[in-house]
Amino acid sequence: MAIHGDKDLIIQVPLTLINIMTMVRTTYYVEADAPIAKVAKEIAAEQSTGTWTEVAAEKEVHEKLGAHVVSAEGNTVVIDFPVEIFEPDNVPQILSVVAGNLFGLGGLKACRLMDVDFGPLTKYYNGPEFGIEEVRKILGVYDRPLVGTIIKPKVGLSPKRTAEVAEQAALGGLDLIKDDETLTDQKFCPLEERLTMVMDRLHKVEDRIGKPCFYAVNVTCGADMIVERAERAVELGANMVMVDILTAGFSAVQALTDEKIGVPIHIHRTMHGALTRGKYGIAMPVISKLTRMCGGTNLHTGTYAGKMERNVCEIDASRDILRKPWAGYKRVWPVSSGGLYPQKVRENLDCYGIDVILQAGGGIHGHPEGTTVGVKAMFQAVEAWQQQKTLEEYAKTHKELAGALKQWGPSQ
Ligand code: 3PG
Repeated sequence: MAIHGDKDLIIQVPLTLINIMTMVRTTYYVEADAPIAKVAKEIAAEQSTGTWTEVAAEKEVHEKLGAHVVSAEGNTVVIDFPVEIFEPDNVPQILSVVAGNLFGLGGLKACRLMDVDFGPLTKYYNGPEFGIEEVRKILGVYDRPLVGTIIKPKVGLSPKRTAEVAEQAALGGLDLIKDDETLTDQKFCPLEERLTMVMDRLHKVEDRIGKPCFYAVNVTCGADMIVERAERAVELGANMVMVDILTAGFSAVQALTDEKIGVPIHIHRTMHGALTRGKYGIAMPVISKLTRMCGGTNLHTGTYAGKMERNVCEIDASRDILRKPWAGYKRVWPVSSGGLYPQKVRENLDCYGIDVILQAGGGIHGHPEGTTVGVKAMFQAVEAWQQQKTLEEYAKTHKELAGALKQWGPSQ
């Protein structure tokens, strides 16, 4: 197809390349009683220039902004949206187009947004300020996965007690400590007091063992306050902040990235099950793409073995989306979290490889000999994997790991 008027400069560009430059391509899983081709057209109309009946409009409106069905086969519907329909740097608006009203259409029995090719929109997003390489450099750790923990109990500890648990964890050589998703700035554990006390302890441990440890303080809050809260946290010494991206909204993370807050951003996906499980919703790979575009450094992507329900294909896809070269963005850490303990390490590392954060809450603090020993047992499970030894074999010379095996049973 010609895209240039000058005869000598006529360039033949395949249609697909033009689509890449001018269209946002979406893929949906759809179930309905009506023929799939008809349903696909209804979705394309509803999400762009149409509605349930014909409405008079200039032909150009439909031609310029109307979505069109690329294919509708089996249960898979592919729809192209022209880039002009989007306000390119406005994630809420983009989601209202590609993941809006359609889920509620009465004629659908299932509808899941499986993938979005954001193509022409990616240039409007900065991606992470800190990625895998920057975090490795700060920690001075290049040849192994990172190991992290979630302070437990997830709520209820005072700032002083939180700092004590953090200190015990860091003493084991941990890379990252994080708040849990429901802890923000409640009265029983005010954020500023907690942060100051935790960082004070972490600095002391760093002086002692010669290695830093991140503390991802949860700054999740309303849109009117999140930048201010994160900046205040950084002022008080935070070396990482955490955001619950689905409850706060993708644009909350985008705002922190645009402000260049100067520390990595840990992303928790709490509430994802409401979107990612079942027949209606948004698949995890789409959430992973948006997280990388908006600037998350780490994203919870699930475990190949752990306590949460899993869709292995979607974990694989998310892992690759976060780490593969894409639009010039920095690479993002997948975080394997949820019911992890030493016996679950091997299966996760076999699938994730070393560019992953293994995060264990109960699997560290629940060790019969306490948090510091629990951290050591996790690291020993990693070492066993790296040396291709079974946990039982490695535990013969590593008593911390032996304690974990006694507590939670043999490796599966
Ligand atoms: C998380 O944030 O993923 C959970 O709090 C993990 O906790 P757990 O390791 O105790 O399951």
